Parts: sequence; C-alpha cells; structure tokens
Amino acid sequence: MTMPGAAGPVPSGGAGIRISDVSLTFTGSRTVHVLDKVALDVRPGEVIALIGPNGCGKSTLLRVLGGLIGADEGSVSIDGTPVTGPDPRMGLVFQEARLLAWRTAEQNVRFPMELAGWSRERQEARSSDLLGLVGLREFAKAKPSTLSGGTRQRVAIARALALEPRVLLMDEPFSALDALTRERFNAELLRLWERTGTTIVIVTHSIPEAVFLADRVVVMSPRPGHVVAEIPVELPRPRRAADLDSAFVSHVAAEVRRHLVDTTDDRIAMGEDRTASVAPSKPGHAAPGAAPARVLHPDTDPGTPAWFDPFRPEDEA
Ligand SMILES: Nc1ncnc2c1ncn2[C@@H]1O[C@H](COP(=O)(O)OP(=O)(O)O)[C@@H](O)[C@H]1O
Ligand SMILES: [Mg+2]
Repeated sequence: MTMPGAAGPVPSGGAGIRISDVSLTFTGSRTVHVLDKVALDVRPGEVIALIGPNGCGKSTLLRVLGGLIGADEGSVSIDGTPVTGPDPRMGLVFQEARLLAWRTAEQNVRFPMELAGWSRERQEARSSDLLGLVGLREFAKAKPSTLSGGTRQRVAIARALALEPRVLLMDEPFSALDALTRERFNAELLRLWERTGTTIVIVTHSIPEAVFLADRVVVMSPRPGHVVAEIPVELPRPRRAADLDSAFVSHVAAEVRRHLVDTTDDRIAMGEDRTASVAPSKPGHAAPGAAPARVLHPDTDPGTPAWFDPFRPEDEA
C-alpha cells in the first residue's frame, strides 16, 4: 500500500518476535542477575513500548534481541529463525545518534549498505528514499556537527532502516530531545511505521509516549528484570495526538503507572541488592572479584544504576 504523497521506500513489513524465557547474569566485580525468564511474543508489525525503572534490564533485553549479547538461558527468534548474533533483520537506534563525524548525513545513511556490499546504484536509490522518508533531503550533504540533535537522530533512524530491517529496536531514542521536538518525533515515528510496517520495540521512560506509540505497553520490574504487566492500548490507528480520546489515554496511563508504582518498593528505594545473595556463581562464570567474563561494547555499560531514583512519571517531573 502506498500512502498518497509519500516519498518512496519499499516497505519492509514487520517480523514476529518470540522471546522465550530469556535469563542473563553479568559476572565480574559483582554478580548482577539482570534478566529472569523474560518471555514476550510480538506480532508482526506490532509496536511495543518497554517501560520500567532504571536498571531493570531494558537495554540489556534490547541487546539480547538485537543479537549483540547472548542470553545465558532461553532464546530469541525472529519469524521463527533464532537470533544468534548481530542480525541484519533488525535496525538499532540509541539515545545518541552515534553518527560518523567525518561523513555527511547521506554517507552515514549509506554506511550499512556499503558494509553489506550493495551496488552504488542501489545505495543511492535507497538513501535518497530514506532521506525523503525522514524529511532530510536538504541536509543530505551536511556533516553531523552542523545538525541539531533532533536532525542527527533522524539520520540515525534513516541509517537504522537502511538494510530494510523487519524490526526496529529503539533504546530511549527521543530522551535527549526537548519536549516539543519529542512530540513531533513521536508523530513522525508513527507515520514512518505506517509507511514501513516494521515491528518496533521502543524503550521509553515516558508514559504518554508509550501510550501514544504502542499497541502494548510492557512494564518491567528489576532485580532481576522481568515482565510484570502487558497493557494493551486499544486506540485506533492512524493515531494523531490531537485525535486521541484523552479519557481513554489517562485510563491506560494510570494502569501503566499502577504497575510501575508496584515496582518502586522499599528494596529499590533503599538501594539494597537482592541479587547479591540470591544469584549463585554458576559453573563457567567468574567468581566475584575476578575480571569481567563478558567484554562488551563500551556503550553498553551504563555505569552505576540509579537505584535511588526510581521511575518518576513525567508529568510529576
Ligand atoms: N556490561 C555490563 N556489565 C555488568 N553489568 C551490567 C552491564 N550492562 C548492564 N549491567 C547491569 O545490568 C542491569 C540492567 O542494566 P540495563 O539493561 O542498562 O538497565 P535499563 O536499561 O533498564 O536501565 C544494571 O544493574 C546494570 O548495572
Ligand atoms: Mg537503558
């Protein structure tokens, strides 16, 4: 289906995702049981918002989904095929755009296509379509340093779509943007979704964002990270912010908040580490005090989690 006036890219369609009892423990100077039997089925083309307190394992789950780290137990599959490593069927977008500074916007979008060995012609056609899709044609030749944060993030989204992924994994992609830009990006993401049909899993700290975007809001709770609620958002599409039935939106938001409130218990507020006494060292895992068993991309280590700063609904911030 082609939308009237739309700019061109071939819709990739969405893939179904099956997350089966994924568990993961980081070992190193301390043992952190991050994910505990996380299970979730995502329908092809569905939009899932993942929400939960800091440190509950949302980014880790996204990385397992994207094949960047392997689970200790359980499995992830995309349309029935297991994910065993970085997977071209998935596009990733992070909070920071992470563009290559010496390349123009267009060259950044083309980078994955170059790595994949696409012909020059195919690269040009695809990058032109994608720059049109994210409204960036006029910035094609601009270097990242000359672009605003929002525009850089658009380039990152276009780049994530480069190889026609069937799933878009987004880790707090709009958190660094100001409130108005963020609203605009939410609406744009939905328009982009209408064009591509890509399955989307988006991590967010914003309840309104989650409710506006998602077909289902999945609430996670920490220590160890697990799914505590899946709240369907039965709002018709296409959604436009102005058309939303505010009573229904508030009702869903309250439901999400109720589950989040349940997770901000005393253990978290006090910063007590339940996993320290619960998670035994498994054979093959490093003993406490030993060098970290996993070597990850530096960007994946979030540093000290803010246990003392449990999730706060945005409208109270
Ligand atoms: N590479 C790593 N090594 C050790 N611990 C990690 C690593 N990455 C994340 N963690 C820990 O795993 C927990 C979950 O982190 P993360 O998935 O980033 O949570 P969230 O995205 O929900 O804030 C935190 O306690 C964090 O410190
Ligand atoms: Mg995170």
